[in-house]
Amino acid sequence: MTRKEIVTLFSDDVKEFVGKDVCIKGWVRTKRGNKNVAFIAINDGSIIHNIQVVADVAKFDEDLLRNITTGACLCICGKLVESLGKGQSVEIVAESIEIYGNANPETYPLQKKGHSLEFLREIAHLRPRTNTFGAVFRLRHAMAFAIHKYFNDNGFFYWHSPLITASDAEGAGEMFRVTTLDMENLPKTADGKIDFAEDFFGKETSLTVSGQLEGELGAMALGKIYTFGPTFRAENSNTPRHLSEFWMIEPEMAFYELEDNMNLAEDFIKYLIGYALEHCMSDIEFLNNMYDNSLIERLRFVVENQFVRLRYEQAIEILKASKQKFEFPVDWGVDLQSEHERYLVEKHFKCPVILIDYPKEIKAFYMKQNDDGKTVKAMDILFPTIGEIIGGSQREDNIDKLITRMGEVGIKPEDMDWYLDTRRFGSAPHSGFGLGFERLLLFVTGMSNIRDVIPFPRFPKNATF
Ligand code: 4AD
Ligand code: MG
Repeated sequence: MTRKEIVTLFSDDVKEFVGKDVCIKGWVRTKRGNKNVAFIAINDGSIIHNIQVVADVAKFDEDLLRNITTGACLCICGKLVESLGKGQSVEIVAESIEIYGNANPETYPLQKKGHSLEFLREIAHLRPRTNTFGAVFRLRHAMAFAIHKYFNDNGFFYWHSPLITASDAEGAGEMFRVTTLDMENLPKTADGKIDFAEDFFGKETSLTVSGQLEGELGAMALGKIYTFGPTFRAENSNTPRHLSEFWMIEPEMAFYELEDNMNLAEDFIKYLIGYALEHCMSDIEFLNNMYDNSLIERLRFVVENQFVRLRYEQAIEILKASKQKFEFPVDWGVDLQSEHERYLVEKHFKCPVILIDYPKEIKAFYMKQNDDGKTVKAMDILFPTIGEIIGGSQREDNIDKLITRMGEVGIKPEDMDWYLDTRRFGSAPHSGFGLGFERLLLFVTGMSNIRDVIPFPRFPKNATF
C-alpha cells in the first residue's frame, strides 16, 4: 500500500480517499483511550496537524500497544473514515501497526506538552518534533524558497560568494580565523610574529562576515545578483537578535541608486511576508494563537502599508524631541541602538522605517559618500519588535574616494586590490543590501529569540549539536 504524507489527509480533496485503505508513518504525539479503544495522534512533520488513529484494543498485541508511547515511530495501515470527533475531518481505523522505533517514556524528554522555549533550547536536537518548532522550520523553508523565487522571477542570478576569505568585508574585525597551523607549535617569522605564510592558504584567512564584496564583482558583470548563505560574526553579543552564525541574503545591482535600492528592499520584504500569509497560514495561525495574537495583524500591516523613509538627521531630531529616557543618549553622530530604532518604529511612526544618509563614521568604508562630506548613502530598514532587519547602501564607485576612505579606516588598499578592480575597470553606480534571514524569521514567526528560528544556533560559549 502506498504511504500517504499526513499533509495530503488535510487537503481539500481528501474526501476522495474516504473508505479506502491508507498507510501513514510518523511519530506519536499522544495516546489516550480506554480498555476498548486507543486514540493515537501521529505527526510526520509535513503539516502542523496530527492525524488521529483509532485502534481496537482487542485486535492488537498488548506489548505492542504498551510500546506506543509519545515519541515512538510507527507505520500504520488502515481504513480512512470520516471522523465524528471535532478537530479533524478524517481519521484512520488501524488494521496493522508496526513500531519502527520505541521512545522510552522514562528518558524521552518531550513528554508533556508546553515545555518552555528555554528548556527546548537545551534539547535543540529534539525540538523540531514539537508543534512550535515544526511550524518555525516549515516557515524557514518556505521563506528560503520564496527568496529564490522572487529573485529568479525578477531576473537576478544566484551568486556564490566564498565562505573562507582573506578580507574583512565590514571592516569591523569580528572574524573567526580559519587555520590549519599547529596551535601548540606556531611557526614564527624572524621578528617573532606568527608566520601565516606557513598556513594552509599561505595567508591569514577567516570565515566571511558578508558575501557583499564578491557580490559586487558579480553585479558588475551579470547586472543583478544575490547571495544567500551563512555568514559568521565573532561578535560577543548575547542578545535575542544576534547569532554568531546567521544566514544573509545579499542582492547587489549594477545601475541601482539609493532610491532604487530602497524600492527593491521594500518590494522584496513585502513579497516574502505576503508569500508566508498565502502559503503557510496553518503554521502562522498556530504561532499566532500560541505566542502572539497580533502576529497575523502585524504581518498584514507590513504588506499593506508604505514604509516611512527619512534621513538619519531627521531621526535624531525626532528622538531628541521625544523626551524619552534612553539608556544611550542621542546626538548627531551616535550609532542608533535598538531602543532608538524601536522607539521610531513602534512608538513614533508605528510603521517600518527606512533610514538613510547616516554619518560616514558609523558605517562601512564602501558606502557612497554624499556631497556634504559628512554622510553616506546608507540605508537601514527598521522593523517593529526587531529593530534593524536590513542594512545596505549605494556603493562608492569613485576609486579615489574609496581608497581615501579605506586609508582613513585603516584598510590597506593593496590587500583588496581585486575589489578595487570593480572601480578601476568599467565602474558604475551600484547598490545592494543584506537581509538577515533569521531576523526576517523572527518577524514572520513572532518568535522573540533568534536562537529559536535556526535549527542549531551558534552563539558565544555555545556550539553544541
Ligand atoms: O548591517 P550588516 O552588517 O550589513 C552587511 O553585512 C552588508 N554587507 C550588507 C550589504 O549591504 N550587502 O548586516 C546585514 C543584516 C542586518 O541588517 C541584520 O538583519 C543581519 O544582517 N545581521 C545579523 N543577524 C543575526 N545575527 C547577527 N549577529 C547579525 N548581524 C547582522
Ligand atoms: Mg547594519
